[in-house]
Amino acid sequence: MSQEEEKQIAAYEAVKLIKDGMIVGLGTGSTSVYMIKRLGERVADGLQIKGVPSSEETKKLALTQGITIISLDDAPTIDINIDGADEFDPYLQLIKGGGGALLREKVLASNSKKNIVIVDSAKEVKRLGKFRLPIETIPFATNKIISILTEKGLDPKIRKKDNEIFRTDENNCIIDLNILPFTNLAKLQEDLIGIPGVVETGLFLDTTTQVIMGKGNTTVSFTK
Ligand code: A5P
Repeated sequence: MSQEEEKQIAAYEAVKLIKDGMIVGLGTGSTSVYMIKRLGERVADGLQIKGVPSSEETKKLALTQGITIISLDDAPTIDINIDGADEFDPYLQLIKGGGGALLREKVLASNSKKNIVIVDSAKEVKRLGKFRLPIETIPFATNKIISILTEKGLDPKIRKKDNEIFRTDENNCIIDLNILPFTNLAKLQEDLIGIPGVVETGLFLDTTTQVIMGKGNTTVSFTK
């Protein structure tokens, strides 16, 4: 089974958890695309749900799939949030933000009753950090933040796309960090968030309810 097939199988399994009447957080990234398309099929078959998208890209896709979209303001609660991840560890801690949507993704994860993470088996790690940690920063402060992070030994790299500085849906920048030398992730999160101009990090330490991982032609479920 390929990585793409594992993503699909995990996404399809997660969509089975969605029931009539739910408000659903819709993640961003290639695994979430499979989830949104499958959800669209269920909606076409009569499932009644409303979705809160975690990015403009996801919003566009969901609308093309016939999914009713509402804003976070109009969602009294999010019953279930389904999203991908770049890495997960045995404690169900995540690195997210490979697609640059980490800020809205974290807002949805923090406001959802259940957070289901859908991944292929390449995302399972013993320890987070092989994937560089994305953080979102305001443009005004980004160069100063890069200097601070360099001094802290985090080897910051500003994210670019097509040779231009990448901008998020909130018009911010992304800096990707090497966190491998840092073992206390809670402390790292606190330190990073403490730097003025850092809006959010892609460390999701305590939000995950369940990870559904595609492995071969089946899924493996991880819960705490
Ligand atoms: C988007 O910003 C990310 O957090 C994605 O959820 C994450 O990068 C996983 O993406 P894939 O499903 O494409 O691997």
